[in-house]
Amino acid sequence: MSDPVSTGALRRMLVTSALPYANGPIHIGHLVEYIQADIWVRAMRMHGHEAYYVGADDTHGTAIMLRAQSEGITPLQLIERVWREHKRDFDHFLISFDNYCSTDSDENRILSERIFTALHEAGLIAERDIEQAYDPAKEMFLPDRFIKGECPKCGEKDQYGDSCEVCGSTYRPTELGKPYSVLSGATPVKKTSTHYFFRLSDPRCETFLRDWVGQLAQEEATKKMREWIGEDGNTKLTDWDISRDAPYFGFEIPGVPGKYFYVWLDAPIGYYASFKKLCDRLSLDFEEWVRPGTTTEQYHFIGKDILYFHTLFWPATLQFSGYRAPTNVFAHGFLTVDGTKMSKSRGTFINANSYITSGLDPQWLRYYIAAKLNSTMEDIDLNLEDFRARVNSDLVGKYVNIASRTAGFLIKWFDARVHDSAMNHRLLVQLRAAIPMIPTYYESREYSRALRQIMELADAVNVYVDAAKPWEKAKNPANAVALHETCSVSLEAFRLLTLALKPVLPKLAKSVETFLSIDPLKWADVTTPLSSARSIKPYQHLIQRVDQKQIDALLAVNR
Ligand code: MSP
Ligand code: ZN
Repeated sequence: MSDPVSTGALRRMLVTSALPYANGPIHIGHLVEYIQADIWVRAMRMHGHEAYYVGADDTHGTAIMLRAQSEGITPLQLIERVWREHKRDFDHFLISFDNYCSTDSDENRILSERIFTALHEAGLIAERDIEQAYDPAKEMFLPDRFIKGECPKCGEKDQYGDSCEVCGSTYRPTELGKPYSVLSGATPVKKTSTHYFFRLSDPRCETFLRDWVGQLAQEEATKKMREWIGEDGNTKLTDWDISRDAPYFGFEIPGVPGKYFYVWLDAPIGYYASFKKLCDRLSLDFEEWVRPGTTTEQYHFIGKDILYFHTLFWPATLQFSGYRAPTNVFAHGFLTVDGTKMSKSRGTFINANSYITSGLDPQWLRYYIAAKLNSTMEDIDLNLEDFRARVNSDLVGKYVNIASRTAGFLIKWFDARVHDSAMNHRLLVQLRAAIPMIPTYYESREYSRALRQIMELADAVNVYVDAAKPWEKAKNPANAVALHETCSVSLEAFRLLTLALKPVLPKLAKSVETFLSIDPLKWADVTTPLSSARSIKPYQHLIQRVDQKQIDALLAVNR
């Protein structure tokens, strides 16, 4: 039989997910993204593709500097501690980064300087004086979020510099009545300083982006981007301020003391810095991977809130500094819990570590999130009641049950070995015909579709086991041949379902590989049935049921 999933040429791909800010813990909203990207990379690796997945903490900027101050520690101490917390959480949730570092690294400084210099030489950096709000007491320029005052429309007090929470109007911070600095309470003054701009309004950027947008996978993102670029020959793209004044935690711009790269310049470059570190470790040729015209692929998983940075600034930055542009950017929607925004007071602002310490299994969340995800930017909802019901019915009731109901008989009566002639049973032929579609669903990020399909196959297997009634057959030695067939078919079906679920449930799949005495499953193994040459191991519990008490405990600790 020809195998559609293993005949394709091997590909080389670099995959990233957005770099989380180093000023707070990982929460389940973040996890949507890391789980989505991780499943994708694992599915790619199961083809044998050379797929590297890198990440890092996003460590620079005003917020992190101020956060460290308020904790009475240095920014370096803060980012070091948070890095360890983030890494612990990613490990718990089985996020298989090949490298996870920090944007505050030598590699990133060198790459950021090199890219800035290249953009400068390409004539795409402009220097311009701008006037900004300045806190005379704290002696620093104030980002919009750090200025409050009276709403210019409705007069409400204590509104942020960009929008009013009461009447919903948006405005510029200079329009606020009685403005004050959130940091010191002082009235901000206007102060002029020289800034560096990336000249995104340059016709070269417009031409390049108008073309690049054609390769974006998502319709919604493409539409957004076309709006941002504007009419042909009449671009709406505006120059991007990429510098900040001291005090700032970040990289100083070479030759310009007291000026720093804006965090959003060096953050995406952090993808490359992390990959560079990996290349050094594995002796890969970094320059070959990232040069224009290379045959490698480059994918970025992000949330819809940071699309602008990843579909305009980042591709243009790469293109005009001598690198390849991304192959694609995949944006997902936001996570809500029980139908509303995550909320501290409801206990639904669930941080990753509390999920672990409350005794919940990370693979439950991986499964549930995957069951909700598709390729669009639609928001997804975690309904905790549905979470419990779904995990229990699908993973325990439909999937694991297949093995737990048949493995014991095989071990007890048949020397723990399948009957080879059972491997061509028509149920198995049906499964082997259906499973090659599953990796294509993973690749197109239609995870909910993949899992729906897998559970339909599991249903078919359960119908078969229910009809074959192995527990009845086991009562009468005259039925030995039929019992052997039932158990063999069931366990081979279980192997095939495990293969299909492996990107989502990697730890469970590993236990199953041990249990069935088989090599690590890859897509080509659809056609490598169990064999009587190897005996299976005693069945051990593979996954627990979700208990309502655990969910109650989880909500309680986050309140
Ligand atoms: N540091 C920037 C990204 C820099 S990438 C060069 C950042 N960090 S973040 O910590 O705020 O978010 C990290 C990722 O998590 C983003 O892609 C963001 O969209 C995603 N999410 C944060 N909250 C989320 C939800 N509630 N739901 C889904 N994704 C969410 O942005
Ligand atoms: Zn208002």
